[in-house]
Amino acid sequence: TVLVVDFGAQYAQLIARRVREAAVYSEIVSSTLDVDAILAKEPAAIILSGGPSSVYEDGAPRVDPRLFEAGIPVLGICYGFQAMALALGGTVAQTGQREFGRTSLSIADSGCLLDSMPNTLNVWMSHGDSVSRAPKGFKVLARTAGAPVAAFEDLERKLAGVQWHPEVVHTQWGQQVIEHFLYNVAGLTPDWTPENMVTESIEQIRRQVGDRRVLCALSGGVDSAVAAALVQQAIGSQLTCVFVDHGLLRAGEADQVKNDFVAATGVDLVIADEKDRFLDALAGISDPEQKRKIIGREFIRTFEAQARELAGDRGIDFLVQGTLYPDVVESGGGEGAANIKSHHNVGGLPDDLQFTLIEPLRHMFKDEVRAVGLQLGLPEAMVWRHPFPGPGLAIRIVGEVTEERLTILRQADLIAREELAAAKLEREIWQFPVVLLADVRSVGVQGDGRTYGHPIVLRPVTSDDAMTADWARLPYELLETISNRITNECRDINRVTVDITSKPPGTIEWE
Ligand code: XMP
Repeated sequence: TVLVVDFGAQYAQLIARRVREAAVYSEIVSSTLDVDAILAKEPAAIILSGGPSSVYEDGAPRVDPRLFEAGIPVLGICYGFQAMALALGGTVAQTGQREFGRTSLSIADSGCLLDSMPNTLNVWMSHGDSVSRAPKGFKVLARTAGAPVAAFEDLERKLAGVQWHPEVVHTQWGQQVIEHFLYNVAGLTPDWTPENMVTESIEQIRRQVGDRRVLCALSGGVDSAVAAALVQQAIGSQLTCVFVDHGLLRAGEADQVKNDFVAATGVDLVIADEKDRFLDALAGISDPEQKRKIIGREFIRTFEAQARELAGDRGIDFLVQGTLYPDVVESGGGEGAANIKSHHNVGGLPDDLQFTLIEPLRHMFKDEVRAVGLQLGLPEAMVWRHPFPGPGLAIRIVGEVTEERLTILRQADLIAREELAAAKLEREIWQFPVVLLADVRSVGVQGDGRTYGHPIVLRPVTSDDAMTADWARLPYELLETISNRITNECRDINRVTVDITSKPPGTIEWE
């Protein structure tokens, strides 16, 4: 394991991801962890991340020099580079010359870390202080206008550092810096591959579960599908999946779970067809929060009934949950599975339904989940699916949810998805909600006659984590095709609009 020591900037996760992209397993630990605790984890290498802008700031975290004496390879990045220089007897100067953003780097001696790179590159900087003198034993590799020592290495002790951020996309040759450190300075082997992720997860699930029974709520989304497929490979018939079809899914989604997913995994699947229950419960409701509450409540009722029927008096031993590594890191990175009574991701299950969670994806990033899904033979269409909200199309109909409106929206949504796929832009777009303004009408002219129909809103966005988002600049030709098809093929739709609001101030969904 490569440990990424997080000094409190947003970069630690990105660094951990880049290390994983280099096929080396990495985990994030807090900089408040003391040296002994870090060393006790027996890391294969350590990366010190960026952090506060100055090592001279009040309360700026220091690095204990003992960290460098244990013979473990260390790479310092940005703040981590300065903290390393200081701890090893170098000098960090408050030059007053700050560098932010794109900066030109001159390589004097490429050494091992910057091997085979051009003499000058554009790198992404974010620092106030600079290392003015490298510690003894280090070779200085590069400089910028504001940083006389911008990179150094000591191959004997397997220590290296860079002032810039190799983990960000704007930095040229960034991934190579990380790979040179991992492979050439630290001597690690790239073996964190989808095959190995699958093998390791399977072993761990078997150890945890033994011969007991496991239940999984399938949503049709990629996380629950991959989690279920992994558990299925590990323990086969001890797993039962429950898929609640609430009738608020997009075209083809329920069939994909019922047919393709079962065909690919051989999983034991129980389908609860509860379309009528949900539609009845939603009748007459326009308020978004009320819709959410009703759907959550009905979901729990259905799932609980199914679980009781399946597990009988024995109860459920384990429930599979598709928690990802970023969720674990963001919630403080606790270790081990908690014994939980209710869980929000499945809508807050009732108290008397006790189970232990199995979270086979809790060490994976989204791209790794997809790689594992493909490795397990899941259909590409499922693995690359955009995130989709639990309440489904109900919160994409502004107004009351009816069967008829769902049919229209499903058709418009399918057109948008088909055309996005045909333009090969699916993977650049984070999500592409299509919204029916069912309570709004506008005048149109279609086939020589006046119409008084509803608008459809296209809401394509780009994002990394759905916390913030930008409206996607889709090509006009693509928008034109989608608009033509929707107005021609969808009954009652005579207008197509594009939402050009970022988040914030808008949210991704309309409700
Ligand atoms: P917003 O609309 O808040 O959405 O920008 C952020 C992300 O969350 C999804 N979303 C939901 N997911 N239940 C879910 O499971 C919900 O009630 C819900 N509301 C929004 C949304 O699709 C986006 O990915």
